[in-house]
Amino acid sequence: MVSHEKIEFAGAKVGEALAIHGNRAERRPKRRRASAHDRIPLPRDRRTPPFLLYISYTWRVPRTTNAPIVSVDGDRLMASLMNLARIGEIDGGGCARLALTEEDRAGRDLVLGWMHELGLEVTVDVIGNVIGTWNVGVGAPVMTGSHIDTVRTGGKYDGNLGVLAGLEVIRTCQQAGLVPTRPLAVAFFTNEEGSRFAPDMMGSLVYAGGMSTETALDVVGIDGARVGDELERIGYNGASPCPGIAPHAFVELHIEQGPVLEQEGITIGAVTGVQGISWRELVLRGQSNHAGTTPMSLRRDPGYVAAEVTAFLRRLAREMGGHQVCTVGRVEFHPNLVNVVPASVAMTLDVRNTDEALLVAAENAITAEVERLCAAEHVEASWRRLTRFEPVVFDRAVIDLVAGVAREQGHSVMELPSGAGHDAQMIARMCPTAMIFVQSHRGISHNPAEHTDRDDLIAGADVLLHVMLRLAGLDPSGNRASGDSDGTTR
Ligand code: GLV
Ligand code: MN
Ligand code: MN
Repeated sequence: MVSHEKIEFAGAKVGEALAIHGNRAERRPKRRRASAHDRIPLPRDRRTPPFLLYISYTWRVPRTTNAPIVSVDGDRLMASLMNLARIGEIDGGGCARLALTEEDRAGRDLVLGWMHELGLEVTVDVIGNVIGTWNVGVGAPVMTGSHIDTVRTGGKYDGNLGVLAGLEVIRTCQQAGLVPTRPLAVAFFTNEEGSRFAPDMMGSLVYAGGMSTETALDVVGIDGARVGDELERIGYNGASPCPGIAPHAFVELHIEQGPVLEQEGITIGAVTGVQGISWRELVLRGQSNHAGTTPMSLRRDPGYVAAEVTAFLRRLAREMGGHQVCTVGRVEFHPNLVNVVPASVAMTLDVRNTDEALLVAAENAITAEVERLCAAEHVEASWRRLTRFEPVVFDRAVIDLVAGVAREQGHSVMELPSGAGHDAQMIARMCPTAMIFVQSHRGISHNPAEHTDRDDLIAGADVLLHVMLRLAGLDPSGNRASGDSDGTTR
């Protein structure tokens, strides 16, 4: 467990100092002042999704007069999102920029150009993470960022919002003449999605020291390409070492990618953490044979076992309830022909839970069921671990800061955990970290139809702006920066 130094945030309204120990922030005696707006109960006539079990409190505040004194330029933010979305554009308005492909390279070049236009000091590290730093003030930077790679059927906002809003924060500060007492940095991390190369969040994991650079560079993707070769091919095999510099604090803006905020009519999510993720590849091998002549009793059919495994995952998730989710996202039959009992099937299992013990129990139940099915069908199974991350709890002080800033701006706020993986969960190993969520229309993501209303995107960026300024010792709404007192350099 990493022990973080004590930090304080600017702004008396939300910035009471908390003692922080790694990811588990210890609350001193409760000090959030109650207001008339707090804790107005939600209507309960809707079906409550399981994620709401983890929501600890909700504020509904009328959105009227609390516009921040300094705001991002919404048109400019939208224009940058749309410009990036044109790279790798696919039918339905989405993007395909799988990590380290030509499309990813073109997206990287565009964003890197914008970093240079802002006068940022840009570094590319050994795993291809790109960090643009506005070198003002002293000490370790307040960092934001996310990713610009997408799944093959991705939307415009997943990851991209967090990166481009970060640049918009710096643009806004520069134009408003706001100079924080610490550097501000915006990162885009390599291969967050993990669709081509596992694990997901690879760049931020290596940045945080959770995986060696050599291991990451040697990962071979679903198309047989090697990370190190692809980084070199697209010209992003940088020289900055990993693990990288620990930021003073990290905050990531992201679309929720789930339905909760929209269903509850809440504008801003203060994200409490990220659920644990288990990805495994299962290869089943049987006896390939003629589909017409092979009696059912003599078959060793891995296709049948794959189907039973898929159905078992659904049953298991339903029976466990709560936060348990299970997905079979990729199934490849070989030789994949209409009249041939398959020789082998390769399939992926994505299993997640906010509770580590339950996640382990789910993994064990699946392994046992696969053994049982394979024994009965005389099929052989081999497993390959692709990803395993325990649930992450974000920093209580940064979560409170996000919620407090959002409330000050007149937004309704709720705390919620993230169902998706994020770079913030890796950077949380290095420094106090949290995330800001904005609504996802109908909870749809990893789909070209992914949509977030313009007002919500801008609201999220404005919350990010003021959270970063507070973390960097500046409170433009009250001017004086009381927090970030020590200017500690790390
Ligand atoms: C990353 O997008 C994930 O699969 O959660
Ligand atoms: Mn993402
Ligand atoms: Mn994603």
